[in-house]
Amino acid sequence: MRKPVAAEQVAQLVQGSRKYADIDAALVATLSRSEGAKAATEKDAAKRVKRKLHQMVGAYLDAEVPFGTWLERLRTVPEGERAALCKELLGHHASTRERVAELRDIYDFIFAASAPQTVLDLACGLNPLGRVFMPLPAQTRYLATDVHRGLIGFLNEAFPLLGITGHAFVHDLLSGPPAMAADMVLLLKTLPCLEQADRACGRGLLSALQAPRVVVSFPTASLGGAKRGMQHFYQQRFLETLPAEWSVLQTQVFASELVLKLQRS
Ligand SMILES: C[S@@+](CC[C@H](N)C(=O)[O-])C[C@H]1O[C@@H](n2cnc3c(N)ncnc32)[C@H](O)[C@@H]1O
Repeated sequence: MRKPVAAEQVAQLVQGSRKYADIDAALVATLSRSEGAKAATEKDAAKRVKRKLHQMVGAYLDAEVPFGTWLERLRTVPEGERAALCKELLGHHASTRERVAELRDIYDFIFAASAPQTVLDLACGLNPLGRVFMPLPAQTRYLATDVHRGLIGFLNEAFPLLGITGHAFVHDLLSGPPAMAADMVLLLKTLPCLEQADRACGRGLLSALQAPRVVVSFPTASLGGAKRGMQHFYQQRFLETLPAEWSVLQTQVFASELVLKLQRS
């Protein structure tokens, strides 16, 4: 009988690579177990985990991110140029790069007719840097999560420089949402990403959210720019698997993003 692959050893191999050293250990451990079960050796499993991490995290963020330089620029930028700098930085993550041309329209749609006191932005990427364009009062608490530890460290230093009330923290959504309540949860362009590792995770995640409202979005094209009916495919599959306690209030298709506003019934 074949010796089972040791998940801890797989995780060590993955974390030893500079490219993946900054990813949350809980996510690496989860993937090391699931990919380890499909692989013949630890080396093979580590390769599979790295491929998944690339699809879920690495493909979106620039390879080398100069967080220190960005913080220095945020510290010294004149107030009148701060919004333009945020827009520039949003361009360094593929998800916000696609959103940047229609930032105000998308945020106006998301936050119209709502005044959340707490927003929880799950798998946020650089989206919190768009806070300066969101039609929300300064006192709104903005909480943000992702699995990239360097990104989270950067956001925690950037928030006070941008006058954002709140903080960011590392959290792996494959283990469920963070155990905290919010008035509105943002789950922007994230479900297809999580489904790379767990095809059924979206339903459980939505059921476990402690919030009366959630905004879910999907890209209208792949990272490579191909359209191939993606929007229709995502929308249909999402609605088919939507837990009964959530109902769709409004849907809007933007050039780069399909956005659905949902309410817990
Ligand atoms: C497609 S991007 C979306 C980013 C952001 N929500 C936006 O729309 O601008 C997916 C994000 O999910 C994060 N991510 C990937 N796997 C995750 C996981 N298991 N838990 C939490 N975040 C994850 C990635 O680091 C990346 O920033």
